[in-house]
Amino acid sequence: MTRKVTVLGSLNADTIMHIDRLPKQGETMAMHDATTAPGGKGANQAIAAARMDAATTFVGAVGNDQNGQMLLDAMATDNIDIANIKTHQEIGTGSAFIMLEKDGNNTILIHGGANQSLSIEDIESAKDAIINCDVLVAQFETPLAVTLKAFELAKQNGVFTILNPAPAKTDIQPELLSLTDLIVPNEIEAETISGIAVTDEASMADNARKFRELGVPNLIITVGARGAYFSTVNGAGFVPAFKVNAIDTTAAGDTFIGTLASQLKLDLSNIAEAIRFSNRASSITVQGAGALPSIPKLAQVQAAFDAEA
Ligand code: RIB
Ligand code: NA
Repeated sequence: MTRKVTVLGSLNADTIMHIDRLPKQGETMAMHDATTAPGGKGANQAIAAARMDAATTFVGAVGNDQNGQMLLDAMATDNIDIANIKTHQEIGTGSAFIMLEKDGNNTILIHGGANQSLSIEDIESAKDAIINCDVLVAQFETPLAVTLKAFELAKQNGVFTILNPAPAKTDIQPELLSLTDLIVPNEIEAETISGIAVTDEASMADNARKFRELGVPNLIITVGARGAYFSTVNGAGFVPAFKVNAIDTTAAGDTFIGTLASQLKLDLSNIAEAIRFSNRASSITVQGAGALPSIPKLAQVQAAFDAEA
């Protein structure tokens, strides 16, 4: 049976500023290039799920502008159900300004725009999409109260919930965590919620304990080029990343999450394999430019494994 994934989240027009290094305060610096691409954590995660052949539905908002149209077209091209993407008549599409350094690392500023216009009523209108899926995925680029409402509906209907608490926020409702089946933060996001810095594997296990106290039974901490740590009801471990030459790490984490949502068995029995597969997908994303355009399809991920075998 085809996995059904619903993503509640952001759609952004990304402006990518290609630079040697970050500017210093007060400095004026030339860029090598400025390019635009569709992105947004929600959109990227949905695209990853869809490219891994999950039947994917999106709940979100764009503005009535060219960027909004670009994002709707991009999502539709990858067969994502866009019926629950609202077009706001006054507020523009969300945007992100990405400083991309020579080594592929990035620093991102976002402007929520239409993403922040999502309301509880929008969730009520999208109820069917939220309750009739296997997995609901959300991030923190849309209002927290809206995510809480969606997670309530999901859990009342036996839907598995994945929360990617990115970008890091401190005002998370305790109820939202208790409605989360699996949380997937990076090191910074984990520490922001747990108060425990992620250094070695022992600190990751401490994080897992803290998250369980907070009502989240399953945790994956992504640690960039190193890989990912997991601790679930079935056990814990570390899955190293694949070593590749990164040119643009934008959407690497999003690829991981969307792929995971499409591959993970909901009893978590294949968690290490699903993480390995998602690491592989991310390793392809970092070798391509732009967020959404660089996310691989299932066949590319499989081919990468075959090439190594
Ligand atoms: O995670 C990467 C994404 O973060 C970018 O596409 C940008 O839109 C920001 O939301
Ligand atoms: Na990329």
